[in-house]
Amino acid sequence: MKKDFTILGIESTCDETSAALLVGGKKLLSNVVYSQIEEHKKYHGVVPELASRAHAAKIAAVIAQALDGKQIDCVAFAHGPGLPGGLMVGRVAAETLANFTNTPIIGINHLEGHLFACEFEDGEVKKPLSFPLVALIVSGGHTELWYVKGYGDYKVLGRTRDDAAGEAFDKVAKLLGLPYPGGPQVSAQALKGKRDAIDFPRPLLPGTWEFSFSGIKTSVSYYLKDHPNVNVPDVCASFEQAVCETLVKKTMLAADKYKVKHIAVGGGVAANTLLRELMNQAAQKRGITTHFVPRNMSSDNAAMIALAAWKKLEHAGEKASEKKWNININPNLKVKNWGK
Ligand code: KG4
Ligand code: ZN
Repeated sequence: MKKDFTILGIESTCDETSAALLVGGKKLLSNVVYSQIEEHKKYHGVVPELASRAHAAKIAAVIAQALDGKQIDCVAFAHGPGLPGGLMVGRVAAETLANFTNTPIIGINHLEGHLFACEFEDGEVKKPLSFPLVALIVSGGHTELWYVKGYGDYKVLGRTRDDAAGEAFDKVAKLLGLPYPGGPQVSAQALKGKRDAIDFPRPLLPGTWEFSFSGIKTSVSYYLKDHPNVNVPDVCASFEQAVCETLVKKTMLAADKYKVKHIAVGGGVAANTLLRELMNQAAQKRGITTHFVPRNMSSDNAAMIALAAWKKLEHAGEKASEKKWNININPNLKVKNWGK
């Protein structure tokens, strides 16, 4: 591939409309993110119909701003997993552009984007992942644990059975009357509370690599019913501790079992300070290095989609599709090995 090979990434799987330009698999020329938080705030969560409309309203302007008149060599868009309406908007935008500019098109798994986002620093790809590693992808819609042998060589160890970790943060915030998105709000309250004030469950589900966070959320709701004059910071601190301990423990169990020396943590919840601290402490004890996504790249963005496309082209010899339409979207897309 030529040195200045330029990929336009498009992301529209949930509540961020984003477009980015990545040059030579290294340098981000742009990463425009339009967040729909204001649209969804009063509902304490993402309303799919509103999300679709907001993507449709914003995507052209977001792409135009990211492109800024530049030439592109490839269009990459997140074709799943995500909300069907948003995925369709991304697909139509991507296919239109690919045809209009006569460039190839490639569909990217959004969760792979969250993994590769760990390689960014200050708008550049500066921190290559080291393999083999155990990856924890922890966002508002997903919580998954992967054993990753190399680029595109995955074994999915487990997923959440019910709520994703970010979803649990958002639901607990709603129970407490805190605004959406709940993660940063709960975290800010937690700083003023005692982490051992309430003993919420740590659902480890021994013998599996799965997660389950709906039980913690239900415990919080029972606790609130029984304690009308609740201390909000204590609830937040104890809840955050329970979720983060659970995530760290399972990740470390997987790291031990697969004897890896590296772990990677990506997705919106990877911005959480306690999670970063507990994970780093546990990793240090084992001599394991951590690859955390930088905070400014942890939530949904198109830069990570463009980078995942570059990795696929570079490492898997993936051919960007010559047919420029009918790149299927899949709301339940699962990560799979490249070349398979
Ligand atoms: O990756 P992301 O932007 O969207 C999905 O792909 O789902 O993640 C958004 C999620 C939300 O649930 C939000 O509450 C959570 O990430 N989040 C956090 C923090 N910042 C964002 N959760 C815990 N602590 C945070 N600091
Ligand atoms: Zn995401």
